[in-house]
Amino acid sequence: MSDAPDPLLYVQPAATRVRDPVTGRSVWLAGMVRNARSELDKLSFELWFGEEHPKADRRAIEEALVANVRQEGFDGEVVVIARMAEATETSAPAAKPSKGLPGMHGGGGVQPHGGPISKRALDGVRHIVCVASGKGGVGKSTVAVNLAIALARLGQRVGLLDADIYGPSLPTMLNISSRPLADADRKILPVVAYGVRCLSIGMLVPADEAVIWRGPMVMGALRQFLQDTRWGDLDVLVVDLPPGTGDAQLSLIQAVPISGAVIVTTPQKVALDDAIRGIAMFRKLEVPILGLVENMAWYELPDGQRDYVFGEGGGLAVAQEHGAPVLGQIPLQTKLRASADAGVPAALSDDPLGEAFRDVAGQVLSSLATLDSPQTESEA
Ligand SMILES: Nc1ncnc2c1ncn2[C@@H]1O[C@H](COP(=O)(O)OP(=O)(O)OP(=O)(O)O)[C@@H](O)[C@H]1O
Ligand SMILES: [Mg+2]
Repeated sequence: MSDAPDPLLYVQPAATRVRDPVTGRSVWLAGMVRNARSELDKLSFELWFGEEHPKADRRAIEEALVANVRQEGFDGEVVVIARMAEATETSAPAAKPSKGLPGMHGGGGVQPHGGPISKRALDGVRHIVCVASGKGGVGKSTVAVNLAIALARLGQRVGLLDADIYGPSLPTMLNISSRPLADADRKILPVVAYGVRCLSIGMLVPADEAVIWRGPMVMGALRQFLQDTRWGDLDVLVVDLPPGTGDAQLSLIQAVPISGAVIVTTPQKVALDDAIRGIAMFRKLEVPILGLVENMAWYELPDGQRDYVFGEGGGLAVAQEHGAPVLGQIPLQTKLRASADAGVPAALSDDPLGEAFRDVAGQVLSSLATLDSPQTESEA
């Protein structure tokens, strides 16, 4: 079993390249491909259709998928299990919490990895923006928090979701010590900090306790954070992703329509390599790259000279090479680290650092405005 290839390695790129004529999206993003499994020389997955798919389309989609899986390099047996969804609304039942806050300990509603994908827009949320990187520790959370604050200062209604289940940073960076409550319908009510509606696993689990969950539980929790939370009307929901290009990212992108991604990187080669992988992942999953933030771009010496601690302009070069706009360069500054530790985000200030984050936020807003299919207009 351990030698079986990861089925998603073949199925995901294959399905990303097949268009669903009903929704106009790839069959992957439309959530039609589920439960991919593999044995040594056999790969199977379910292909879910609705009543609205004519028979001829179903066959064409199936054939295209098999051909693409082969093209991706799988040469064993490919088994497609065609299934019909009963109704066209949502394919999975709404998550029902067992007690307290919804399903945080594996209660009802947690969808295991590979389980039914119910990709649906969040009521009232216009845009979901992911802040991501390939590498850890490059300043994603710092950028996510300050982007959220800066957007709010620009008059937007903003939410901030900490999708880093194993290493939540949001409660510290926003000095939040209260727990989110649940309303009568057992929807989670985010905690408001500096005008931003925030949610993090760190608000539910004591700081000295580790979350020891397997992947499926993490992904179930993430989907519940998104879908079982009373976010209210938001212009932008900023999502602080954990590092890498793994399950959490994939699960999130499968769960909701994402308007775009902001990639954060530091300028040194090892970080840039991972940033490029991050860009590639979003592109493969058809999520637009809103732009790149080069963090820790330089350190200003007392005489005003710049010391390019991690090399000069590496992030800018990658952005240019990969066709991503540059949203800004943030210098390495003690003040930024200190403000994060103190829970008073730098973007609250009117100094050049606060200005730099507002500049990033302004550019993100302009990009969002040009996107032709905002969140609320996507299919449910
Ligand atoms: N430009 C900067 N100047 C000084 N300190 C910074 C800067 N950017 C981030 N930091 C600090 O570096 C540390 C790592 O930043 P942060 O937690 O935002 O990274 P991350 O990419 O979210 O990490 P992880 O991958 O662990 O989620 C934090 O202590 C943060 O305050
Ligand atoms: Mg982080």
